Amino acid sequence: MSATIIYVMGVSGVGKSTIGNKLAESLDIPFFDGDDFHPEANVLKMSSGQPLNDDDRLGWLQTLNKLAIKHLADKGCVIVCSALKEKYRELLSTNIQQNTKWVFLHGSFEQITERINGRKGHYMKSNLLQSQFDILEEPKEAIKIDISLTPETIIEVIKKELQPKSEFGLFGLGVMGKSLSRNLANKGFNISLFNRHVEGSEENVAVNFKNEFAALASAKAFDNLEAFVASLQTPRKIMLMVNAGKTTDYVIDDLLPFLSEGDIIIDGGNSNYHETKRRFDDLKSKNIHFIGAGVSGGEEGALTGPSIMPGGDKESYKEVQPFLEAIAAKDLNNLACCTYIGTEGSGHFVKMVHNGIEYVEMQLLAEVYTILQAQGKNPDQIATILESWKPTTNSYLLEITIDILRKKEGDDWLVNKIMDKAGNKGTGNWTTITTAELGVPSTMIASALFARYTSFYKDERTTASNKLSSDIDTSLSLENDTILQAYQFARIINHYQGFKLIHEASINYKWGLNLSELARIWTNGCIIKSDLMVDLVTVFKNTNNLLTDDGITQQLKALKPGIKKVVSDCILNEIAIPNLCESINFINSFAVADCSANIIQAQRDYFGAHTYQRKDDATEQFYHTNWKN
Ligand code: 6PG
Repeated sequence: MSATIIYVMGVSGVGKSTIGNKLAESLDIPFFDGDDFHPEANVLKMSSGQPLNDDDRLGWLQTLNKLAIKHLADKGCVIVCSALKEKYRELLSTNIQQNTKWVFLHGSFEQITERINGRKGHYMKSNLLQSQFDILEEPKEAIKIDISLTPETIIEVIKKELQPKSEFGLFGLGVMGKSLSRNLANKGFNISLFNRHVEGSEENVAVNFKNEFAALASAKAFDNLEAFVASLQTPRKIMLMVNAGKTTDYVIDDLLPFLSEGDIIIDGGNSNYHETKRRFDDLKSKNIHFIGAGVSGGEEGALTGPSIMPGGDKESYKEVQPFLEAIAAKDLNNLACCTYIGTEGSGHFVKMVHNGIEYVEMQLLAEVYTILQAQGKNPDQIATILESWKPTTNSYLLEITIDILRKKEGDDWLVNKIMDKAGNKGTGNWTTITTAELGVPSTMIASALFARYTSFYKDERTTASNKLSSDIDTSLSLENDTILQAYQFARIINHYQGFKLIHEASINYKWGLNLSELARIWTNGCIIKSDLMVDLVTVFKNTNNLLTDDGITQQLKALKPGIKKVVSDCILNEIAIPNLCESINFINSFAVADCSANIIQAQRDYFGAHTYQRKDDATEQFYHTNWKN
């Protein structure tokens, strides 16, 4: 511990001298009783039974302050002094606030009276003690200790509390939690780490992890929740990296008894944004701040710099901003890929849509692989083709797909051995539900999700393939450039639909989201970072709708022949390309002034009298027709 002045304070009779003495002895620093430093005039006044006024105290308190400053230059010291009012404490800690600690011994009036009267030769008039209680202004930033504890326990508690506290706590040391902890430590933050204790399976996880990495030398590791929380500076900032869903609720319930008003919980998991709103409201009623933060980048991103999407109260975001922005990836202008998103569950909402866009980006690359494979290319050859696309259309997912395709196990490529059943953890599912709920046609996300679900029916697919696939010789012979055009076209539609969903949600929930800023924090650190995303930062400065941007529409027009050719040839050859197909289908349905919804409206009116509007009536009134007459 660096040199510190410890003032032990409280009303008469709480045992300040006893505790102060023992504490000084145990810390091996000098002890002073403040009463020994009164000037003679004060001593005379007190011995004649007159109480001191604030003017009498001024010089005395300044003397104690000088004493403290002198000892701060050495080992520090313990000074006992009643210091009942805030202004006395201000005088005592003038110029040394940063190095001063207050220990406030407190007990009830009855407890102290009994204690004083029990001391041999001591008697204190109860009105004198009462007057001390009357003027006592309890310190806010003190180590507050109940005098009913034994002196030994009191000393232990004080010594523990004097330990420097951590700035930030990380709860949950799974893959992401571990990487984020190391990232925080690498940035020089004092952190506390916690992982639950599960007999036989999760024992000493935090301590073992801390011992593994030199950068964590000054981190504090716990598997005791109360001690973990107590090790943090207030307001506490605790980031949860635990499984989304029920676990997050259980963890919050476990934490609550140890938290104080104003503390901040950050949920860095892939939580559902509705649940984040519920937790936000619930914790707000308890005066605990809750930040739902989307974190993207996987294990490596979490370690070297993820993209972070925090939502909640702006004021509480400011408290955690230095930590989150320091650990986040940096964009091309060296700005953090972390920005305040908006209130309630908006951070987790945008992370959810990020994942929806991610599902499509992944599916499109899988479809490109299917096409090239159908044209007789092996994984290495496909990787080489994808490599050649990098200068025009690079992305993180393109890069990792190239690596994946090149990975061999023995003589064969590893991808050939991987079971073709795609898993998911739910975010694509939620995005699809949300886009349906909000009435936004993000059809590609739904299509990518259902492609995963379709893949899962492996046995039924195999049976169906025997019965339903035609015996055709694949005559697919698409140019690489044509496939590239189709891929680029579909990616633009994917980004149009994803950002459109965010924009509509922003209007619906009054979040005021900034799409350009969102694109910016997705230019690095996250799974969907790409050259296209960098371009979108500028595009979204002028519009919230990609299809109104001339540059984008010109690109789509130029790429259209490619997507039409690829989709039609693949369909003729029974090659599954649901996402590529959806992209051109969407534009064929959307970029059309007159569509077939008139038939739907007529049908609805026919069987359910649901009414319809007419193109030849600008008043927009509704009509019903008796269709059978
Ligand atoms: C990210 C990822 C990450 C995780 C997904 C996987 O941005 O870092 O999206 O959050 O990889 O949860 O989701 P699925 O298991 O549903 O594919």
